[in-house]
Amino acid sequence: MDVYDAIKKRRDVRSWFSDEKIPDEIISKILLAGHYAPSVGLSEPWNFIMIKDINIRKKVRDLVNKKRCEFYNSLPEDKKEKFEKIKIEGILESYVNIAVTCDFNRKGPDILGRAFIRATSEYSTVLAIENMWLAARSENIGIGWISFFNPEDVKKILNIPDEIKLVAYLTLGKLTEYHDKPELEEKQWEKRHNLSEYIFMDKWNNKPDDNFINIIKNSRI
Ligand SMILES: Cc1cc2nc3c(=O)[nH]c(=O)nc-3n(C[C@H](O)[C@H](O)[C@H](O)COP(=O)(O)O)c2cc1C
Repeated sequence: MDVYDAIKKRRDVRSWFSDEKIPDEIISKILLAGHYAPSVGLSEPWNFIMIKDINIRKKVRDLVNKKRCEFYNSLPEDKKEKFEKIKIEGILESYVNIAVTCDFNRKGPDILGRAFIRATSEYSTVLAIENMWLAARSENIGIGWISFFNPEDVKKILNIPDEIKLVAYLTLGKLTEYHDKPELEEKQWEKRHNLSEYIFMDKWNNKPDDNFINIIKNSRI
């Protein structure tokens, strides 16, 4: 799978996890892909907590269920109906869960590039996650990113210290199906817009010329 293929075919997956085991060597490669991400000042601010314990996962799943209800109740009627059909997590069905954290103080105070933008540590961690997502796709493994919880509640369950940020809670598993479109598009919750809507030239809100817009519109990967 070339890089464009992996980018285009990567999906956030919460359904269709199979019972099949993921070999440790493959999990290790996916983690290593994360570890190869760029990081501000080579600070490598990430940690990866692999969660196999079903009781820990049930605690996280219970938090997610609560927030799912909260979100459902906040929706207007027409959206409630659509949301009911959307699966937002596969915490128990997946083979392993991985919590990805960010240490803003990793490797001390003199991190090159972090001095003025503290969030660069978090950006680095998110890049590691995207690397993992793409590597998993090339191994035919699905990843779902779950964010229906208060991160502080999950940190308590996982014994994560106060000063460490929980950036992502991921679920990984082999799949029985891999879909071409995001599930949110399939279920008509949201859709991808054309890239040309998001491109400006020189300054905010200045549209590029029509020629370039046409090139963007006809571009395929
Ligand atoms: C930061 C982040 C948090 C997300 N949290 C959730 C979530 O809690 N539940 C869920 O069903 N999907 C979640 N998603 C998945 C998005 O809905 C999904 O990426 C988007 O619909 C596009 O689909 P695709 O990733 O298959 O292209 C999250 C994605 C990101 C990047």
